[in-house]
Amino acid sequence: MNRTGKLRLGVLGSGKGSNFVAVAGACARGELPAEVAIVMSDVADAGILARAAGQGIAARFIPPGKFRTKLDEEAEAAYIGALREARVDLVVLAGFMRILKGDFLKAFPQRVINIHPSLLPSFPGLEAWKQALDYGVKFTGCTVHFVDQGVDTGAIIAQQTVPVLDGDTAESLHARIQQAEHQLYPVAIRLMAEGRIEVRGRSVVTRA
Ligand code: GAR
Repeated sequence: MNRTGKLRLGVLGSGKGSNFVAVAGACARGELPAEVAIVMSDVADAGILARAAGQGIAARFIPPGKFRTKLDEEAEAAYIGALREARVDLVVLAGFMRILKGDFLKAFPQRVINIHPSLLPSFPGLEAWKQALDYGVKFTGCTVHFVDQGVDTGAIIAQQTVPVLDGDTAESLHARIQQAEHQLYPVAIRLMAEGRIEVRGRSVVTRA
């Protein structure tokens, strides 16, 4: 928390950063008691870093190290160090395409959340909108969840449904899911910032 009682967010992303823009915008408009303290990426030229820097928010590229799907030990320590230095209360994954486990989760227990572009537990993993389209479901959506040791398996905080329309392409469906993400993520972070989230095993209860 900062001196004004705002939750300090550390946003991690690998892509264009539209969810970051939605969250930062909601913070700036005073819609939730939080502020983005730092944005970090494993991709040097990721749009999310440029968008953060453009808003005067600290933006750091930290190389992921020698693995393809996770951070190596040195990189993990660098991410933890930068988040601690920025006095981050909540780590917000916004299209961060590397798996975080072990020491990272121990450093921020129950303090790492992710947004996933499907109604989990359906379609975990990559290109969830494409998985939904290929499967032929009539509804999909997005999920905000705590990050645990598995891939997209953590306790679910909030979900929003999105219809799959006749004639949808992977791109049109992903765009519709992203619109829902931009609404849902600020709402879920507001619940966290207001201390209204209680975790009971796999169930997340929202207090009034
Ligand atoms: C979002 O749709 C997010 O749900 C997805 O990456 C996109 C990032 O977009 N994340 C995953 O697929 C994680 N498994 P953004 O950079 O515009 O926020």
